[in-house]
This record gives sequence, structure tokens and C-alpha cells, in this order.
Amino acid sequence: MTMSSVTGVLLLSVLFVLEPVSGSRHGPWWHSTGQDLLASQDLVTDLPGQPADVGFRHYAGYVTVNEKNGRALFYWFYEASVRPDEKPLVLWLNGGPGCSSVGYGATQEIGPFIVDTDGRGIKLNPYSWNKEANMLFLESPVGVGFSYSNTTTDYKILGDDFTAKDTFAFLHEWFLKFPSYRRRSFYIAGESYAGKYVPELAELIYDMNKDPHLYIDLKGFLLGNPETSDADDWRGLVDYAWSHAVVSDETHKIIKETCDFDSNNTWSNDNCSQAVDEVLKQYREIDIYSLYTSVCKNISTGSDDNSVQVMFKPMSKMMPRIMGGYDPCLDKYAENFYNRPDVQKALHVSDGHILKNWSICNNDIFIGWSDSKPSVLPIYKKLIGAGLRIWVYSGDTDGRVPVLSTRYSLISLGLPITRAWRPWYHEKEVSGWFQEYKGLTFATFRGAGHAVPVFKPSNSLSFFASFLAGGSPPSGQQVDNN
Ligand SMILES: *[C@@H]1O[C@H](CO)[C@@H](O)[C@H](O)[C@H]1NC(C)=O
Ligand SMILES: *[C@@H]1O[C@H](CO)[C@@H](O)[C@H](O)[C@H]1NC(C)=O
Ligand SMILES: *[C@@H]1O[C@H](CO)[C@@H](O)[C@H](O)[C@H]1NC(C)=O
Ligand SMILES: *[C@@H]1O[C@H](CO)[C@@H](O)[C@H](O)[C@H]1NC(C)=O
Ligand SMILES: *[C@@H]1O[C@H](CO)[C@@H](O)[C@H](O)[C@H]1NC(C)=O
Repeated sequence: MTMSSVTGVLLLSVLFVLEPVSGSRHGPWWHSTGQDLLASQDLVTDLPGQPADVGFRHYAGYVTVNEKNGRALFYWFYEASVRPDEKPLVLWLNGGPGCSSVGYGATQEIGPFIVDTDGRGIKLNPYSWNKEANMLFLESPVGVGFSYSNTTTDYKILGDDFTAKDTFAFLHEWFLKFPSYRRRSFYIAGESYAGKYVPELAELIYDMNKDPHLYIDLKGFLLGNPETSDADDWRGLVDYAWSHAVVSDETHKIIKETCDFDSNNTWSNDNCSQAVDEVLKQYREIDIYSLYTSVCKNISTGSDDNSVQVMFKPMSKMMPRIMGGYDPCLDKYAENFYNRPDVQKALHVSDGHILKNWSICNNDIFIGWSDSKPSVLPIYKKLIGAGLRIWVYSGDTDGRVPVLSTRYSLISLGLPITRAWRPWYHEKEVSGWFQEYKGLTFATFRGAGHAVPVFKPSNSLSFFASFLAGGSPPSGQQVDNN
């Protein structure tokens, strides 16, 4: 594996030298700059239900990341709706591990086309993040969504490291298709388990940037309710469940007395495991991702189970993955849409006859995940030192990676505070609070669950704009220009 990835990198450097050849002045009419000719075959021209004249182009298709094993990752890329040439490039990743950035990020959260509640069509999202940036959504690693490998043994070795390397290879191959973005300011954003993916990828890019042929103009990253440090995440999960009246004082007391989340074998203490099971049992009754909204009650939509599904690997320290969201039915709507023959054809994933089987999360990937960094805080330290812009936000009604988990992680990081805790505003209302540290900005979203933009789409867009602008979250004084 190491050898082949080294070869891959060498191959990339050779290909990069050829890059200017792939540009052309004689592209189709939409290539006003005469570049990105190779991308034109991925242009999406007939997405079913897409409103006409959206004013931006979008592209979807496969990028091969490993020729030998036949690994290909699926992406969907939306140009910024206004002046794409002047806007940065942002890669968005969802977590799981095993969940789709297209199914969640692009079509439920921040993309321009949101899947309708009947799964039959899509509607325009007025708060799409492609108002501020060129947005790239990637299904990663292989086995997620439409992404695949022709070598089945690849699925047995998936983990953090594998994912970072394939995503890195993806970016370089993608830049060969889209050379006009090759030198663009670049950011990575994501939520949940992408709290691990994003810093890991950022570190790989930073390290590889020593080679000028592989240089990517990485400026920073943005994370929402991110898994960061397993021990801090667990402490936050149980303390939040107690402080939000999900479990009793007695259960919480047992956890406090018997659980050592820093240990390698936390779950070997039966009293601890049983008390943590009690927390998860209560969360099975409600939506852990969003404490105060309803769970999906509609059996006829085909959901196997009405209740929120909890997947838990007790022998590892990995956080449980719990299916669900603001509207857990949405997951089914997305599945209906992406398994349509005409949709798959329009997105260049199949010929419309032999279909790909798309699901929003692949549970086998979660269960088989072989390598998960217990903490990415050392990477934060390194990249803060390198001067990257790092913002972390947290929807404060999420019980899954709750605001307490993030605060405990930031306490562990021990950064000096440069600006004290204060509210930030959206449309003259307090949207949350924020605190600035040397090298990191932390903000909360009041009343938002795990997938923040689903709950607070307008606030999220203006927050995203502040991140890109490099200032602070919007203050009360400032005239709101969104
Ligand atoms: C995987 O195999 C199929 C069928 O042979 C082939 O069409 C496809 O190009 C292969 N994918 C990659 C990435 O090599
Ligand atoms: C526990 O974890 C630490 C740090 O990851 C490791 O160095 C140590 O070998 C582990 N101990 C056992 C018994 O697995
Ligand atoms: C577990 O709980 C039982 C009953 O409360 C107690 O007798 C026992 O000592 C506890 N064990 C540990 C390891 O804390
Ligand atoms: C359940 O879903 C079906 C199909 O989408 C819909 O027709 C029906 O009205 C829904 N029922 C409820 C109670 O929401
Ligand atoms: C598609 O994948 C789902 C989930 O992995 C599985 O349950 C289902 O049987 C698959 N369907 C087909 C037609 O392969």
C-alpha cells in the first residue's frame, strides 16, 4: 500500500507537468476562460426536476484514485452562483464513517438542490453555500454512496489513513479535470466523523505541500459538531445527556465513578458499560441528533425501524453512530431519488439500465472501520502552528457530538483566549455564542441539532461567509449584508 501510494504521488507529479496541455481555448461555449475542457464530459445537463436557469454550472462523475485496484470516487461539484472565478474552492465531507456527503451535505444541508420530501424531485435551496464558494462534495472512501472499488479486499482495509490518502489522490486527479481551480484558495469543511477526516486530510496536504508540484493552496478548515478526541467526546456525551434530563442522577453518578474514558478498555468495566448502555437506550427513544424534534413515525416510507438506530462498537472507543436527523424520513427520500435510473444517468454514474445501489450510509464500512485516530488534537496544534484558519461550530441541541464534547476537547487543547465569550447575531437575534482563541474560533448555534445547516440555513450561510472572509462571526453592530 505504501509503495503504491508513493508511486501514485510520483505519477501525479509527472501528470502535473502536463497540466497546461489539458487547457484549451476551443472549449464549448460555457468555458469562457477556455479551460477545464476535460470537465465538460461531467457537466450535468439534465438532472430530473432541476429548475431551469439556476445561473451556475454543476458537474458530477467519477475520478479514478487507484488504477491498479480500480478505485473510483464520486463527486458532485457546484460552481459558485456569482463570479465563480473569484471565489474559493471548498470541499465538504460528511462522516459516519460510511455516510454520503451527497446524501447529507449536498441534498439535505448546504447544496443548491435539496431533495423533496416525496423523493420525486428537488427544490432550490435559497441558502446554498455555493452563494459564497465553489462547492465540491465527495463520497469517500470507496463503498460510500456511488464510490466503489473493483478490488473487494479494499473494503476490508478502510480506515482514517486510507481515506485521507485516497481523498488526496482524488484532489490531484480532480485538478487535472478542473485546472482553473488548481491554484485557487482551498478550504475543507465537514461535520460529525469528518471531524477526523478533515484535520487528517489537511495535515496530509500540509505535509505534501513541501513538494511544489503537489502544492494546494490550503487556507483552513471549518468543522461542525466534530468528533475530535474520543475520551473528551464520550465525557461530553454522557454529561450532556445528564444535564439535558435524558438520564438520571444515579446513572450519571455511576458513569462518573466507574468509566475511565482515557483507558484502552473502558468497556471492560461492566458497571460503566451498563450505565452508558442506559444513556444509549434513552437516546433510542428520541432523536439523539436533535433532542427537541420528532422522530420519523411513518412506516410506509419503508424505514426498517421507526426508532432511531444506534450502532455501537462496545469494544472500541469509536463513538456510536446513530442514524437519524432533523427529519429521519429524509434519508429515505434521498435513497428514492438517487436510485432512480434517470438521476443516475444524469449524474454519470450509470447508463440508466444497469443501476448502482445507492444508500445514504453503508453500515458495513462503519462496522469494519480498521483505523480511527483516538484524537486529532495533535493535528490541530500542528496546523494552528502553521497558521491555518480553523473554525469549529456546534449546534447546541445535538446529543451525539454535543457542545460539551467540543468544549472539553478545546479545554484539552489549552489555547490562550484572545476574545472572551460573547453572542454572535443573525438578523438582530442572538444566533449563538463564540469565543476566539489564538489560532481557533469556536461558536455555538442556538437551537440547532447535529446537522446545523438543516436547522439554521440562513444563519449558517452568513456564518460561512464570515469564515471565508476571515473575520469574526457576525456581531450585533454590523449591518447584515446577507
Ligand atoms: C471497474 O470495473 C468495471 C467493469 O470491468 C470497469 O468498467 C470500470 O472502469 C472499472 N473501474 C475502475 C476505476 O477501474
Ligand atoms: C493503550 O493505549 C496507548 C496509547 O494509544 C498505547 O500506547 C498502549 O500500548 C495501549 N495499551 C494497551 C494495553 O493496549
Ligand atoms: C459494580 O456495582 C456493584 C453493585 O453496585 C458493586 O458491588 C461493584 O463493586 C461494582 N464494581 C465495580 C468494578 O465498580
Ligand atoms: C407517510 O408517507 C406516505 C408516503 O410518502 C404519505 O403518503 C403519508 O401521508 C405519510 N403519512 C404520514 C402519517 O405522515
Ligand atoms: C442495496 O443495498 C442495501 C443496503 O446495503 C441492501 O439492503 C439491498 O439489498 C441492496 N439492493 C440490491 C438490489 O442490491
